[in-house]
Amino acid sequence: MKDILTLGIESSCDETSVAVVKNGREILSNVIDSQIKIHEKYGGVVPEIASRNHIEAISRVTKKALEDARINFNDIDAITPTYGPGLVGALLVGLSYAKALSFAINKPLVGVNHIQGHIAANYITYKELEPPFLCLLISGGNTQLIHVKDYTEFEILGKTRDDAIGEAFDKVARVVGLGYPGGPKVDKLAKEGQANIELPKTHIDNLDFSFSGIKTAVINLNHNKPDINKADLCASFQKTVTEMLIENTKMALKQTGLKTLAIGGGVSANSYIRNEFLKLEQENIKVYMPDMKLCTDNAAMIASAGYYNFVQGKRDKLDLNAVPNLKL
Ligand code: KG4
Repeated sequence: MKDILTLGIESSCDETSVAVVKNGREILSNVIDSQIKIHEKYGGVVPEIASRNHIEAISRVTKKALEDARINFNDIDAITPTYGPGLVGALLVGLSYAKALSFAINKPLVGVNHIQGHIAANYITYKELEPPFLCLLISGGNTQLIHVKDYTEFEILGKTRDDAIGEAFDKVARVVGLGYPGGPKVDKLAKEGQANIELPKTHIDNLDFSFSGIKTAVINLNHNKPDINKADLCASFQKTVTEMLIENTKMALKQTGLKTLAIGGGVSANSYIRNEFLKLEQENIKVYMPDMKLCTDNAAMIASAGYYNFVQGKRDKLDLNAVPNLKL
């Protein structure tokens, strides 16, 4: 069978990324131009600045992705951009570029949901992984438990009712003075501390999550006890949110009868979370987690998800619009 090459284009937040992936599983190139340094001084992503920098980067990043893959536009079978969820101005840059390219080189346009991309990061890391499985998606914009029934068929079993877990990590980092992006800094500092501070866990009757309570508790503790040990606070926060994640994940596994779990999204790069989830293997659950470089935003995962959309027959027209709150 002929190989299928998808060109993934990702610009939903602060990474401009373009990748070429073969048959949904093999990375030929994955160029990531991160704007972290630019947004660092503002303490978070500034949407307008993100859009402008995507515009500046997109042609250069695409050219490099083709060069790294040693192909040209003619070799591509489908152009697969992220069209949501994300920052609307940022999404529009990658999507408009993809639409113009599709028109100019006469190749199919196949839109990809960013969350579907985070799930697909696991297909690149583990060639043997196939649906059905449970996916815990933990990122800067989303926290969801997803029953992945097939490559393009999903059921959301639980989601956050307020903050995404990555937002809570970033906020905790900011209040304890670690700066942006917070997740990796909390991860690092927590290693020097003890999880000896009691923090509130939110229990909801179904599989939903809530992180605003623990976030506020950390803010208040830090405010009321300025000399509190920051490393202990980070370690305690990380341990408590991980317990919340694991409790709901176990319930979802029980409810669905699934024995395979994949995690994904930027927060799945957290070393403590990775270790704790691996322990589920002792309970007869097969646990998958993407390579570290595929946890945070990248276009290879988008090209992988785009491949599955493409082979299932999905095609989009040039009026495809960016959808900031796109659902799976
Ligand atoms: O998946 P991602 O790159 O963007 C979205 O699609 O949302 O996730 C970014 C989030 C940020 O909140 C960042 O702080 C968090 O992932 N993150 C981490 C770690 N690395 C990135 N959170 C905890 N520990 C980490 N090691």
